[in-house]
Amino acid sequence: MKVAIIGSGGREHSICYKLKQSKNLKKLVCIPGNAGTAQICENLNVDISNFNQLYDELKKNEIDIVIVGPEVPLVEGIKDFLEEKSIKVFGPSKKASQLEGSKLFLKNFCSEFKIPSARFQEVKNLSEASNCIDKFGLPIVVKSDGLAAGKGVTICNKKEEALNDVKAIFSGKFKSSKKVILEEFLKGEEASYFVITDGEDFLPIGTAQDHKRIFENDVGPNTGGMGAYSPSYLITDDIESKIINRIIKPTLAGMKKIGSPFSGILYAGLMINNGDPKLIEYNIRFGDPECQILMMRMKSDFLEIVINTIEKNLKNKKIEWYDYPGITIVASNKGYPGHYDKSKVIKNLNKIDQNENIQIFHAGTSNVNGEIIAIGGRVLNSTVTNKSLKIARDEALRALDKLEWENKYYRRDIGWRVIK
Ligand code: AMP
Ligand code: GLY
Repeated sequence: MKVAIIGSGGREHSICYKLKQSKNLKKLVCIPGNAGTAQICENLNVDISNFNQLYDELKKNEIDIVIVGPEVPLVEGIKDFLEEKSIKVFGPSKKASQLEGSKLFLKNFCSEFKIPSARFQEVKNLSEASNCIDKFGLPIVVKSDGLAAGKGVTICNKKEEALNDVKAIFSGKFKSSKKVILEEFLKGEEASYFVITDGEDFLPIGTAQDHKRIFENDVGPNTGGMGAYSPSYLITDDIESKIINRIIKPTLAGMKKIGSPFSGILYAGLMINNGDPKLIEYNIRFGDPECQILMMRMKSDFLEIVINTIEKNLKNKKIEWYDYPGITIVASNKGYPGHYDKSKVIKNLNKIDQNENIQIFHAGTSNVNGEIIAIGGRVLNSTVTNKSLKIARDEALRALDKLEWENKYYRRDIGWRVIK
């Protein structure tokens, strides 16, 4: 099999790492990739939003299967585009991608198929917004309908603050949409649940706990994720069966019913309160950095699973896992998620001994004349599996501590809720 991975983050590096272990892999390219993927496969420097150019490169490289990491190309219809030209794609169609691409689609879908999630209302003007806030109470959650790179949601403790947010979205704060949804605030603890599905059957593919805030103790602005661990200790067998029966199964059945069966990775962001899960959001792809741990913990051949998914052949299949839990700690450029320098050199990467229990997955890195430069917000992922999360975290930190890099920043408390 000749495979292309689309994306350039730690998620995509870890997928490359995992696929390299498959006996069915003949060729692997990453588009556009980073300095880490370049060490284990070929990077192709193609603008992934230019589907025609992308197709030409895939053809030239005789690619059989494309695995799409990030949501944007999926929401823009990369699967529909490439499959029309006979290139197989792992990931959902444009229509099915609406589960992440439009919050309004998701909320209406949840109502129609009775999937537990927060009460909501689409508001079309400020007086509707004001009445809705009075109805739902404070805090209130303000959401923009379209993709907003994780910035489309605010939780407001004051009515005035919420109305200002609503106004900003109406006047075009987000390019993707001017539609506004207000949601009741859900209490509880968040967890992530992943399944892989061929549209008909599905297999659970792990659970994880992300840490979205930039600073220790979960304070400061939201980021793409500063670290995660897996499995999530919140998701007991009982809660898992509720997630499957009340959320995952009705979703897959509903998507089939509306004529858009969902195929690929379905990532449920959940709020769990008193043992009851509610759906906060769906992502239509692996989480980053959650994926990095899942790829290290998976024993089965991931390429085989991908092929079975594309061929609608997941029925009666199994995924095997290593027993150890895993953790990933993200090292970012100081200043992220705000402004940061893009020129600092990272030294000592070669002093970290990597093996099947510890890997450094690259994200925003570039190789410039043999030096690794930190060019992105999130830069490296120290991913470790071990007997306990405490041991794994210590080891992941020790690895990052070895690096010499002027603007290095990472949280030392990933997993604080479970590591005493
Ligand atoms: P979303 O992009 O919809 O996942 O929202 C981003 C984050 O906002 C989530 O991970 C939650 O932490 C928070 N959030 C979103 N909706 C709600 C809600 N209804 N109640 C409480 N927190 C929420
Ligand atoms: N780590 C959260 C996400 O990938 O959406």
